[in-house]
Amino acid sequence: MSELTMKNIQWFPGHMTKTRRMIAANLSLVDAVVEIIDARIPESSRNPEMDSMIGSKPRLFLMNKADMADPLMTDRWIQYFKAKGIPALPVDCKSGKGVKNFNSAIEKLLSELLERRKNAGMVGTPIRLMIVGIPNVGKSSFINRMAQSKRTKVEDRPGVTRTKQWVKIGANMELLDMPGVLWPKFDDQEVAKRLAFTGAINDDVVDIEVLAMTLLEYLAKYYPHTLENRYKMTEFSELGGLELLETLGRKRGMLISGGEVNIERAAITILDEYRSGKLGRMTLEAPEDVHNG
Ligand code: G4P
Repeated sequence: MSELTMKNIQWFPGHMTKTRRMIAANLSLVDAVVEIIDARIPESSRNPEMDSMIGSKPRLFLMNKADMADPLMTDRWIQYFKAKGIPALPVDCKSGKGVKNFNSAIEKLLSELLERRKNAGMVGTPIRLMIVGIPNVGKSSFINRMAQSKRTKVEDRPGVTRTKQWVKIGANMELLDMPGVLWPKFDDQEVAKRLAFTGAINDDVVDIEVLAMTLLEYLAKYYPHTLENRYKMTEFSELGGLELLETLGRKRGMLISGGEVNIERAAITILDEYRSGKLGRMTLEAPEDVHNG
């Protein structure tokens, strides 16, 4: 595999400490935590400290951007999370697909609590949920869908202080939109690459040619039909990343003087086409890729 050069990722450990403290302080106010993850990279799009921060609080994974993920892989991830005792719901908050299943998934998750409340005559008590997720995963899209209105997006940026917000959803639910930045584990090279493929890490901080080579190596291994169908590539199973990128560039006629391939153009093409969904639905990591520890 090609080595990805991470030029300069800005890392604000102080910010993370603040967010961690805020989550801990508000956990007692909610009945459950909804952790939004990217269905294309379910593990890499998580904050590694979330498990310990949340402790035993009931939790649901919302696998957002499921419209861009491989449905068979999404099912495998759902089974994997289920075996760990955490239900996962695939959704597409851009179109709204799957969001209608959210309420029943939460009622199932909290069935014992709701039963106890009912027996105690507390039927009017709203379900309170904390919504967490790394930047760009679709937190605002989800909350807007649930609230059925377009709320002004408040940026989660280091240096910008914002307060927590409760968003009322009908009479029976309140969502706690948590401020703060939850970083993924991008000091791990494999995780960083996957975040960069999906665009969760800005291209300014990665070498896009190396990134494109790595993506092509992955596609050649797991989604070879895509390279055959879209780029008419053949007999590429033995090729390395650079050769794959050159082949793609040549197939697309991206040549510079002397007949050489314009590698940068080819790299931009493959990344853009992947990110815009032109290559079809794909998942870039499998449950067996998860390393514990
Ligand atoms: P955040 O609050 O967690 O930072 O994320 P936000 O909702 O702003 O979503 C980040 C980007 O992801 C947005 O695209 C949004 O449209 C897109 N998105 C959110 N959910 C889904 C989904 O389920 N499927 C797909 N395909 N995309 C989703 P953008 O390009 O930044 O904005 P826009 O062009 O949509 O306005």
